[in-house]
Amino acid sequence: MKLRKLLFQLLSEALGLKPSHMNDMDCSLGLQVLCNYYPPCPQPELTLGASKHADDDFITVVLQDHIGGLQVLHQNKWIDVLPVPGALVVNIGDLLQLISNDRFRSVEHRVLANRAGPRVSVASFFTTGFLALPQIYGPIKELLSEDNLPKYRETTVKEYNAHFYNKGLDGTSALTHFKL
Ligand code: OGA
Ligand code: NI
Repeated sequence: MKLRKLLFQLLSEALGLKPSHMNDMDCSLGLQVLCNYYPPCPQPELTLGASKHADDDFITVVLQDHIGGLQVLHQNKWIDVLPVPGALVVNIGDLLQLISNDRFRSVEHRVLANRAGPRVSVASFFTTGFLALPQIYGPIKELLSEDNLPKYRETTVKEYNAHFYNKGLDGTSALTHFKL
C-alpha cells in the first residue's frame, strides 16, 4: 500500500503535477491481485502462456519467479523482462495512458509458454474496477493546452472495463474505442 501511494506520487510529479494529484483522483483506491500459474508446456513454440495485451488498470506491479517468459513490446520487438531476485516489474496500464493523454503509454506484453515451468507470478492491478465508483476519468485538465488537446473522451472505470472484457484479448487496444 505504501509502494502504491509512492508510485502514484512519482508518476504525478513526472507529469509536472503536484505529488498528490493522482492519489487525490482516487487512482490508487482499488487493488485486484491476480495469481497466475503457467503449467510446464511440452511444446512451448506452439502456444503462449498469456497472449499480447495491455493491462486494464492504471498500473500493475508484477512479482515474477525465476522461470522467466514475460516480454514487453518495444519498437515492434519483443524484449525479455528477465527475472531479477527481489525486483518488482511496474507496468503502465491503459487508464494511466488515458488520463495522461498519451504521455505515459500502456505497455503491450505477453508471457511465453515454458518447458522449464511451472511458472508463478503475482500481479497487483491498481484499478477501481470492482468498486464501481462514479468517478469520471479523462485526460487530466492540467496537462491540456491548445497544443495538447484531449485525445480521449471521458469515461468511468466501469465503462472502460466493460469494453475491455467484451473485446477480449484479441491483440488490439481497448483504448481505441475511447479516442476522440
Ligand atoms: C497479467 C500479466 C504477467 C506475468 O496478469 O496481466 O501480464 O508475468 N502477467 O504473469
Ligand atoms: Ni498483463
